[in-house]
Amino acid sequence: MSKVTVVGAGNVGATAANVIAIREVADEVVMIDIKEGVSEGKAMDMMQTANLLDMNTKISGVTNDYEATANSDVVVITSGIPRKPGMTREELIGVNAGIVKQVTESVLKHSPNAVIVCVSNPMDTMTYLIHKVSGLPKNRIIGMGGALDSSRFKYYLSKALGANPNEVEGFVIGGHGDTTMIPMRRYATLRGIPCETLLDKETMDKVVADTMVGGATLTKLLGTSAWYAPGAATAEVVEAVIHDQDAIIPCSALLDGEYGEKDLCIGVPCVLGKGGIKKIIEIDLNEEEKELFAKSAAAVHKTNEALPC
Ligand code: NAI
Ligand code: 2OP
Repeated sequence: MSKVTVVGAGNVGATAANVIAIREVADEVVMIDIKEGVSEGKAMDMMQTANLLDMNTKISGVTNDYEATANSDVVVITSGIPRKPGMTREELIGVNAGIVKQVTESVLKHSPNAVIVCVSNPMDTMTYLIHKVSGLPKNRIIGMGGALDSSRFKYYLSKALGANPNEVEGFVIGGHGDTTMIPMRRYATLRGIPCETLLDKETMDKVVADTMVGGATLTKLLGTSAWYAPGAATAEVVEAVIHDQDAIIPCSALLDGEYGEKDLCIGVPCVLGKGGIKKIIEIDLNEEEKELFAKSAAAVHKTNEALPC
């Protein structure tokens, strides 16, 4: 029996729980929130799709009752406030750090062996905070940002190429921020054909720029941050762990010398499977990419300095 807890039954948490359930990634999904009735109501609504969708996952929702989350294999943390138009992810740190700290302590009391997937923003810093608060082995804490940013990169590439998004490969490393993420244009391919040989430089520059502000673009349209792709990207990470897929997904991982960085959580390609991060893949970066990565790392270090602990 596999069990996933999703903390925060808001837009992203509920969407992640729904995708996890529909794809039958786990046998059981529990949503927990502080808002009375929200998790319960969303779980009931989702369970009423079971017969329509031929879904066998059991979904439940609770308010503040961490006992119900006991013995989860994976805990996803989405609790906290999202950005509003014009806000950066970094501006959320004051409120979200307190929430993420309290939630981490509460979930680990009941699921001491869980892998934790952090979604709350500023995500790289919240992932770092979870390491500091929990003292867990570094493989058991995964920051979800690169999975989403890579999917947005593939979306913009497919639009520019006029191609099916499923034919496009590409990934994003670095911090999960409008100015810190690094879409890896040199490694992007259309079924193995380098995209840089199919698109001119100006078009490729626009794809990269659009990807970097992909979240802000949606926040402006929606009045709050997006949830369908964030929820699905979270489910992709959870699935890789629960099904021991050895899937290579860019995630925020605690670095200990990789990419020349230490004591920092930032997006790098990771092999995900049972137990969490099985391996960090150190890809070859050229001088320009190394410089971008160092700048991104410096910005994330700076945000970490604003942590209240
Ligand atoms: P939302 O406001 O829809 O949902 C957040 C939920 O957290 C609310 O239901 C709220 O009641 C709950 N909550 C607050 N404090 C809590 C606590 N102590 N315990 C349990 N639940 C608590 O927000 P949304 O859109 O779902 O975003 C959630 C977070 O995820 C935000 O910080 C947002 O910036 C971040 N995000 C991260 C992405 C990523 O790629 N890492 C992508 C999209 C959003
Ligand atoms: C996003 O990228 C704001 O992190 C959120 O949609």
